[in-house]
Amino acid sequence: NNLQTGFPEGFLWGGATAANQIEGAFDEGGKGLSTSDFAAYKDPYAKGAVDNFTFNVSSKELAEYTEQPEKYLFPKRWGIDFYHRYQEDIALFAEMGFKTFRISISWARIFPTGMEAEPNEEGLAFYDKVFDECAKYGIEPLVTMSHYEMPIELTKKYNGWVSRELIPLFENYARVIFTRYAKKVRYWITFNEMNMNLNSLYTGAGTLADKVDNVLAATYQASHHQFLASALAVKAAHEIMPEAQIGCMINQIESYAKTTKPEDQLQALKSNQLNMFYPDVQARGAYPTYMTRYFADNNLKIVMEEQDAAILKEGKVDFVAISYYMSHVTEARPDAAKLAGSFDSPIKNEYLELTQWDWPIDPIGLRISLMKLYDRYELPLFVCENGLGAKDVVSADGKIHDDYRIDYLKKHVEQMKEAIMDGVELMGYTTWGCIDLISCGTSQMSKRYGFIYVDQDDQGQGSLARTPKDSFYWYKDCIASNGENL
Ligand code: BG6
Repeated sequence: NNLQTGFPEGFLWGGATAANQIEGAFDEGGKGLSTSDFAAYKDPYAKGAVDNFTFNVSSKELAEYTEQPEKYLFPKRWGIDFYHRYQEDIALFAEMGFKTFRISISWARIFPTGMEAEPNEEGLAFYDKVFDECAKYGIEPLVTMSHYEMPIELTKKYNGWVSRELIPLFENYARVIFTRYAKKVRYWITFNEMNMNLNSLYTGAGTLADKVDNVLAATYQASHHQFLASALAVKAAHEIMPEAQIGCMINQIESYAKTTKPEDQLQALKSNQLNMFYPDVQARGAYPTYMTRYFADNNLKIVMEEQDAAILKEGKVDFVAISYYMSHVTEARPDAAKLAGSFDSPIKNEYLELTQWDWPIDPIGLRISLMKLYDRYELPLFVCENGLGAKDVVSADGKIHDDYRIDYLKKHVEQMKEAIMDGVELMGYTTWGCIDLISCGTSQMSKRYGFIYVDQDDQGQGSLARTPKDSFYWYKDCIASNGENL
């Protein structure tokens, strides 16, 4: 009888970023090198360029980048210089009326190699300053503990999360940051987009794929260790900060069946299961039974210890966060499982338009996703990433008229509102790359998502000046009206 007709009071409007895509200052303040400092830019406009993705790094590349860094560009090392400009940037977010700001903590700023006994005070102090600056404007930080990066030494020594040794190291890092920021941060996410391990083992798990025997087995083994680390972090968060809420996160890509053929429908269900496997474990506290069949069919043996089931059970998350950019189409075919959770789908949806980077635009898919996930977990949801990567142009009047971005965001906000009317409990919405930043997938600067234009090109040249785009004023209005003025 009490239909919720709009965004609830206290809805957390804001924007999202990640340390390795904004901070820069990769070797300042005692920070150690992280995996993302080794994502070399591969010029997509170069003659003969085939693959400009920087998701996966091989052991040969890592050795080469370590020995001869001067031969390459590493845009994530310079970011957009948020490390020195955070005050100016947060003031602009406050001007838009942000209620929340999603950032991540760089693990390597706190523990430069990941293995020190004591944390790096300068790193801790930096995030204190950032959180204090947010507090000035009443902005709640939403903090990801590991957003696609970790100390590179953990890759070199242990080959990342395939090793169980990382669990206590992460738990220690978790306890240090929870204790330090207990009074400043109420909303936390453990790992960014764990389901992306399926196609970017290096980015997601710090694991060099050429150093494992079986990549699929390594993916699930690494994920198992991350599940345990995440559960232990959740438990620690509840002990140290009883008021805080801590969530898990996936890249939500809904798979639609290509046809009404039952085989295709079954494949869509299975593809969606492979994605939801991650929150299934983290929200329900146990492995879902369908994975037993999947592991058997693929001849995968995941090494688990006796106490693991209890750890997962005790570390259930408080909310489920998603990033949402697109939907997929799938059909019964041998490589179908590989496509779940991937940014690329070879099957096009004839009803959807594409972005300049060929990502299908599907606002209704966001509503479908929210409805499904809420039905499944009955936990609050958070859309902690969504946005349009586009090549913005500075007009002759010095402004950036990004009406295409406004149109994209408006349609997604409308669908979130519908989902809320459908009964979904939605905590907040942080658009991705609220200020232009370095692309995760391609390390490009020219793939821009922001409300704020940053004067810098793919090679790192530019004044770094910040200019509000037209979408800045649109979002300001959207927030001020709690999602009514679109
Ligand atoms: C999400 C990541 O998958 O997608 C972000 O969490 C990333 O880190 C975003 O930036 C957009 O992807 P891209 O490749 O366009 O930067």
